[in-house]
Amino acid sequence: MNTHSLVSIADISKEEILDLLERAKYFEQHPNSKILDGKVVATLFFEPSTRTRLSFETAVNRLGGRIIGFSDPGTSSSVKGETLKDTIKMVSNYADLIVMRHFLEGAARYATEVTDVPIINAGDGANQHPSQTMLDLYSIYKTQGRLTDLTITLVGDLKYGRTVHSMLMAMKYFKPRFNFVASHELAMPQEYKEFCRAEGIEFTETTDFSPEVINSSDIIYMTRVQRERFSDPLEYERVKDLYALHNAMLANSRDNLRILHPLPRVNEIDIDVDDNPKAYYFEQARNGLFARQAIITRALGINPFEL
Ligand code: CP
Repeated sequence: MNTHSLVSIADISKEEILDLLERAKYFEQHPNSKILDGKVVATLFFEPSTRTRLSFETAVNRLGGRIIGFSDPGTSSSVKGETLKDTIKMVSNYADLIVMRHFLEGAARYATEVTDVPIINAGDGANQHPSQTMLDLYSIYKTQGRLTDLTITLVGDLKYGRTVHSMLMAMKYFKPRFNFVASHELAMPQEYKEFCRAEGIEFTETTDFSPEVINSSDIIYMTRVQRERFSDPLEYERVKDLYALHNAMLANSRDNLRILHPLPRVNEIDIDVDDNPKAYYFEQARNGLFARQAIITRALGINPFEL
């Protein structure tokens, strides 16, 4: 695998995470430059996206690079039966970096095995979403002033939610306390709870999104129940409306509490939360631009601090 690929947050060290956060901070202050002049970045999205694709593409555009790719695989030769291997090998002929989202878990890892061009995983099924994690960490750092010793409550679809899986892994360096709030059907998978135990990460697990949980949290991370991951539509109907955050529920929450959500939301955060100063999800998405500028420059071996 190209050492600058970013497939799983578990592949990078604490020092690399902190370096990416420093880069994100730098790019927030200097979002426009020509440091990608002459570079071509391919964005291959086999699944729908608004934020991830557009913020990656904005990141490249603001740094003076060029973008190729597709947002709809229906316009690519994959509909004619071209394999993922062949698609990656073809695009490697044209691009210096490939950003890809795919519905299959492990697709990004597989891509690194068939090309020397660095790969950034923009989400692979229910598995990982490491660039989301970097923007989440950057958002937590900006709002809390630190990453250590925080109580983080993850709510909703913890089974299929790749963003919460990536976050767990990244937070192992920062002594978090997690509350997992989910129905039994969408509970945090056993493997991630085992990961917490192995890493000494404290966690509680409950189906009750109670005032006690809300009022003891520094971060509440809401997630959407992902209809596209369910094979049984009736099961989706049973669980889709179980958890919703309303403004009144925040009345006794901590002053430093911030509400995050990877977005898109459906109905798990009521719009009456949007004007609460503790709502941070739109700013969080904006931070994605800077976090992705950081990830792209790392992947291309460019150090913005030396330019
Ligand atoms: N958070 C996130 O991945 O959003 P998109 O699906 O719109 O890219």
